[in-house]
Amino acid sequence: SNGEILMAGYRSDRLVSCQPLTQRIRDTGLELSANGYAAYFIEALKAIGVTEVVLAINYKPDEMMNFLKDFDTQLDIKITCSQETEPLGTAGPLALARDKLIDDSGEPFFVLNSDVISEYPLKLMMEFHRAHGGEASIMVTKVDEPSKYGVVVMEESTGKVERFVEKPKAFVGNNINAGIYLLNQFVVDRIELKPTSIEKEVFPKIAAENKLYAMALRDFWMDIGQPMDYIAKNSPSKLATGPHIVGNVLVDETAEIGEGCLIGPDVAVGPGCVVESGARLSSCSVMSGVTIRKHACISSSIIGWSSTVGQGTRLEKTVLGEAVHVKTSLEGVVYVCDDVYSNGGAVLPDREMESSNLKPESNV
Ligand code: GDD
Repeated sequence: SNGEILMAGYRSDRLVSCQPLTQRIRDTGLELSANGYAAYFIEALKAIGVTEVVLAINYKPDEMMNFLKDFDTQLDIKITCSQETEPLGTAGPLALARDKLIDDSGEPFFVLNSDVISEYPLKLMMEFHRAHGGEASIMVTKVDEPSKYGVVVMEESTGKVERFVEKPKAFVGNNINAGIYLLNQFVVDRIELKPTSIEKEVFPKIAAENKLYAMALRDFWMDIGQPMDYIAKNSPSKLATGPHIVGNVLVDETAEIGEGCLIGPDVAVGPGCVVESGARLSSCSVMSGVTIRKHACISSSIIGWSSTVGQGTRLEKTVLGEAVHVKTSLEGVVYVCDDVYSNGGAVLPDREMESSNLKPESNV
């Protein structure tokens, strides 16, 4: 019945795409709308004869449906949603969409991570998949810092995957999973309808059975969840340099950085920020107009617009909304200590708090 999507005697007519298409990345000088981008990858699928796209959604379904209303008519492709009531991870959504993926044709389907921007050599991937005869194909690309990704160890000549290690702690190689898969229908039988990780629970097993193959992606690829990597690749001159800078760091030209700070890796400091002397920042985004007082130490956190982080404050894995003022009793005194320690948590906008209010763990 789907004769129009036959591709060189081969059919691959369904896709599952994971969340979040609605993600917006805001960073100094970089704004990307992933929604706009979705049009691009759906067009790439349509170009090779895909007739139906299934979006696996666990976040803001109404927004997504609204967006899709015009989309399927514009692109003339069937787009349906498979909506989770709880997040099912990267594999669970395939079990949820089982009825849409499994049919008598036995043809494979594509799965794309939606927070990836890439060229999509999908036709080549289909040829590769057919030629190796395994159960699953994945695209791989090379990056400098593989530990943030799924790493694939493969036999270079055939592409046969020997190991798949998600977010490895030790170096195993720099070929990483690009988040573009072509899977046989059998793969769905391996997945239970519960939160499951395709990277940790499914791919390693298929690899152990010698049925997982990887194909090198030679074209452009980036994970839009990692905007720093994008900037480092495309406009390295924007990155800050100097003795107090470690790794990829962006500092707006209107921000002031004090003496003896240690900033990086993976830090963005927005316009008009003041970072006072001796502060240490790593893996964090500091929005515009923020003041970070002396010797504060911030890691893996987001500091909302116009907030203040008090002297000696230590924040880890913490999100501060707009105009949050974390004060310490030490204001004005030059003193190095962890007066406030927050490890995990979020503070809503327009709050003012004493150190005692922000202490899931203290005296560290
Ligand atoms: N529907 C749905 N439900 N989608 C989900 C869920 C969920 O519960 N959890 C994650 N996803 C989607 C994400 O939105 C994203 O599009 C994709 O699955 C990958 O999940 P992430 O959690 O963003 O993983 P990651 O970016 O750290 O790593 C993944 O992508 C790398 C490439 O960018 C892994 O697949 C790595 O192996 C890979 O190298």
